[in-house]
Amino acid sequence: MSHYERKDATYRAAKKAGLRSRAGIKLEDLDARFHIFSAGQTVVDLGCWPGAWLQVAAQRVGVSGHVVGVDLVAVEGLVAENVSVLVGDAANLKVRAALRESIDGSADVVLSDMAPKLTGIRATDAAREEALVEIAVEVSRELLGRRGKLLVKLFSGVEAAATRRLREEFVTVTPFRPASTRKGSSEIYVLACDRRVD
Ligand SMILES: C[S@@+](CC[C@H](N)C(=O)[O-])C[C@H]1O[C@@H](n2cnc3c(N)ncnc32)[C@H](O)[C@@H]1O
Repeated sequence: MSHYERKDATYRAAKKAGLRSRAGIKLEDLDARFHIFSAGQTVVDLGCWPGAWLQVAAQRVGVSGHVVGVDLVAVEGLVAENVSVLVGDAANLKVRAALRESIDGSADVVLSDMAPKLTGIRATDAAREEALVEIAVEVSRELLGRRGKLLVKLFSGVEAAATRRLREEFVTVTPFRPASTRKGSSEIYVLACDRRVD
């Protein structure tokens, strides 16, 4: 990452707002576009380290809400009474059981900003990216009711396949690329609403 990229407007805005990463500004942009959050909601945040989305979601849902993050990496030093964090792989069924238990079985919103370790081998990276979308879909099936929302990051190389998969599970699937996304990045965010419940 170049010096210029690190110190761009989004970086400075995140720093000024006391957010742990520039990702927080992206979630603010996404919330401005989609009105994802409201007070009192239960939110699950997959791939939550270092914690900027936790900060933004916690502020939006307020003290009557609850935000639970999951990451392979421990989130250090984020103290908020409406936030808790589990360390582990979101693909792991034991981790998912602990997650379910921590929110009494249901959530209003599932967020996923998970990103895979990339190898540079296109097919391997695409498979990893698709696998993370599948995890987010599975967690949504486990926790979201009919009115629940899933906000998921995906990468342009898997956009078509991932969008098809999301449409199998949700009626409304809307892609959006926040202005705060780095130039040249292949990231896209998709909001999926109105879960198809059998
Ligand atoms: C771009 S960062 C998330 C930034 C975060 N949204 C924020 O606002 O600070 C992506 C994270 O996804 C996590 N991750 C990737 N695969 C995961 C998995 N299978 N389970 C849990 N976390 C995962 C990584 O450890 C990494 O911390």
